[in-house]
Amino acid sequence: MFTLSPSILASNMLNLGDEIKKIEASGSKYVHIDIMDGSFVPNISFGMPVLSAVRSCTDLVLDVHAMIVNPDKYIDEFIDLGADIITFHIEALERDRIISSIEKIHQRGKKVGLSIKPNTDVSALYPYLELIDMVLIMTVEPGFGGQKFMHSMMDKVKAVKAKISDLSKDVDIQVDGGINIETLKIAKNSGANIFVLGTAFFKNEKILNAEQLLSE
Ligand code: DX5
Ligand code: ZN
Repeated sequence: MFTLSPSILASNMLNLGDEIKKIEASGSKYVHIDIMDGSFVPNISFGMPVLSAVRSCTDLVLDVHAMIVNPDKYIDEFIDLGADIITFHIEALERDRIISSIEKIHQRGKKVGLSIKPNTDVSALYPYLELIDMVLIMTVEPGFGGQKFMHSMMDKVKAVKAKISDLSKDVDIQVDGGINIETLKIAKNSGANIFVLGTAFFKNEKILNAEQLLSE
């Protein structure tokens, strides 16, 4: 399964409903919702009211990317408000709390993503691969849209892809940060299958056909 996950961080918040319709019209299956707290990352985006508003206007998969400290505190609320996938950062929690968070999200019937920042070694993900549904390899330092794609992260995508192919189950590989028509192809060739696009989708390239883009 390949899909775009357009990030509403780059959307026009005054017309969020219309922006979600653009995502639907593009053929994307996911909506990426970047929740930032000003502590885990040096920026504050939006939170629960926006998640709930998006849920009220679409049936697309809501892909919540939690860039927050103590993400485990908010799992129930994210799910109550409509999250379908909750991705949190490995750097945010100790091992025991990572495991209990994964279990909690699964008990509630939702999918789990685990993410690493650019300075975290990819091997940090390996102990959890059997337990999760998706890895998110950050291709920029999390916190802001509009940054430049870090090509050096493709080694991590290739390495985690190789590890996943040894498993009996499938784990999606998402990339996030600086993805545009050109870098999407590079990430896809490296093994990624879910592509977060903020700036490229809403501001630059006006990508309106996900299928075409993903088939190239
Ligand atoms: C960055 C966020 C991204 C951001 C991507 O911390 O996690 O999802 O919206 O934005 P672009 O596509 O502009 O790099
Ligand atoms: Zn994100």
